[in-house]
Amino acid sequence: MKMNRINLISSIFSILIFVSFATSNPTPLKRQLNGFTQCKGGFANSITALSYTPNPVVTGQNITVHLAGTATEIIKQGTTIVYTVYFKDEPTKEAFQHKQDFCEVFVKQSGSECPVKKGDYSFTASWFIEKHPDEPKNVVEYNFNISVFDSDGKILSCVNGLMKVSYS
Ligand SMILES: *[C@@H]1O[C@H](CO)[C@@H](O)[C@H](O)[C@H]1NC(C)=O
Ligand SMILES: *[C@@H]1O[C@H](CO)[C@@H](O)[C@H](O)[C@H]1NC(C)=O
Repeated sequence: MKMNRINLISSIFSILIFVSFATSNPTPLKRQLNGFTQCKGGFANSITALSYTPNPVVTGQNITVHLAGTATEIIKQGTTIVYTVYFKDEPTKEAFQHKQDFCEVFVKQSGSECPVKKGDYSFTASWFIEKHPDEPKNVVEYNFNISVFDSDGKILSCVNGLMKVSYS
């Protein structure tokens, strides 16, 4: 009887410790975003994990990107993902922009098809990063704004973060 009570008390204690640890520690989620943060405001389809290899990104090679989150809106044909890239030291000066067909690049390469139903999603895609003759010859850090739009141009997801690009 006495033993049981001690066991019960100690399990309550471990649960309390676990709960306070879990609620006071947002780091695991942040780490999954690898320095990216969700843009200010509310977005229908959250991005809770974003990673890429290689890091820095290298021109003239493939990049592989993993994206995961929770969708409260169906991802339909015509959804686009837009990378708007700013110089790190001049945050308002756009360096370049790149747009992709989200269904073709992310959904298809993950072995699925649009429409993607609501709920948790996880996609991985690779593509070739072109080299340009007039590109710099070093590693440049950029501020990336990565946004997903539906076919009507409504924003569904948005994250911001620094990414390094190696031009070698
Ligand atoms: C680069 O990515 C494309 C698209 O997924 C793929 O077809 C190609 O095989 C990849 N190349 C390398 C070297 O991994
Ligand atoms: C990122 O891009 C989206 C879509 O253009 C825009 O609404 C948002 O304000 C941008 N966020 C930042 C911090 O630049």
